Amino acid sequence: MKIAVIAGDGIGPEVVGASLEVLEAAASASGLEYQTTDFPFSAAHFLETGHVLSDDDVATLRGYDAILLGAVGGLPNDPRLAGGVIEKGILLKLRFELDQYINLRPVQLYPGIQTPLAGKTAEDIDFVCVRENTEDLYCGVGGFVRKGTPQEIASQTMIATRFGVERCLRYAFDLATTRERRHLTLVHKTNVLTYAGETWNRAFNEVAEDYPGVETAYHHVDACCMYMVTKPEAYDVIVVPNMFGDIITDLGAAIAGGMGIASSGNLNPDGAAPGMFEPVHGSAPDIAGQKVANPIATIDSLGLLLRETGRIKENKAAVQAGERVGAAVRATTPKFAGKSLDRSGYATDEVGKMVIDAL
Ligand code: NAI
Ligand code: MG
Repeated sequence: MKIAVIAGDGIGPEVVGASLEVLEAAASASGLEYQTTDFPFSAAHFLETGHVLSDDDVATLRGYDAILLGAVGGLPNDPRLAGGVIEKGILLKLRFELDQYINLRPVQLYPGIQTPLAGKTAEDIDFVCVRENTEDLYCGVGGFVRKGTPQEIASQTMIATRFGVERCLRYAFDLATTRERRHLTLVHKTNVLTYAGETWNRAFNEVAEDYPGVETAYHHVDACCMYMVTKPEAYDVIVVPNMFGDIITDLGAAIAGGMGIASSGNLNPDGAAPGMFEPVHGSAPDIAGQKVANPIATIDSLGLLLRETGRIKENKAAVQAGERVGAAVRATTPKFAGKSLDRSGYATDEVGKMVIDAL
């Protein structure tokens, strides 16, 4: 298995370093053979060389089985990085060019971890968000009229194609059939977004007919935010368009113990291009270099990487390695009981070591 590693900026290299040590332990326990190649794409690399990510770089990355990404991005208000040069140039470019149309984000409270939600336990918070990853407000459709004048007009267009919506819905329904509850909730804002919302809603109801074993529900996104806090047990699988998905999954990360644990995968389920696996958090410039970043989110993303590539390629060793990493992360997290996972008080390497010991 060939893994491309983009460690990135800030805490990226710290958490990726710890996760690769876990990979080494998982691989030797499962007999998985792998090799990693480092790529420098990052804000720091851009500031140093002027290079972001070229089409040739994307073609090179296509040759890998998967990509592991730490985080990219510099200080939030750095004028040299204005206009989303890194977000658009690296993250969105890879998601779009590799057609990673699913952004998979588990929201799972591990036993022993404190959630900010009073009275909720690991049994109540265990769902998966399937976020559409290539359309909606992220297509860059829009522009300015009379920019810089008092009459300035800005528009930004929400795109929903039947093709893009349906392939995302089918992935979500398929995922729901593999889970115990077999329950899928569509989250949108169909009462106001009457065009994009209708396409989603109509496709959802039509695709549902092919999945009689899956129970369905619909929630408006504002109500979903409330239910995620008041009754997260309502959710099993959520399917959601890109923009709302971005927002509710940060809320998801918060209720499951914080940014220190939230993992994600950008998937091309057709297997036509590699997936990219990354913690939900960013480069955290405020704590970079202090070696206090929690690596669990990245280690868990690596577990996701090993499971997902195993499924596509039916590679038993990868599946086994992925399950081992997941189990080790779960076995380790109770040690953080009562602590927030993004400020655990342990050093990055110590946490990595705990996971390896559990493994
Ligand atoms: P952030 O996620 O980097 O940090 C938010 C807060 O959470 C900070 O206080 C940080 O210290 C803390 N935090 C994050 N991850 C942590 C960890 N593993 N352990 C302990 N504490 C952790 O978000 P922020 O500050 O909005 O963005 C910083 C930079 O990261 C920006 O340049 C942004 O564009 C970029 N970014 C990149 C992402 C990516 O590469 N996928 C995603 C989000 C932001
Ligand atoms: Mg986000």
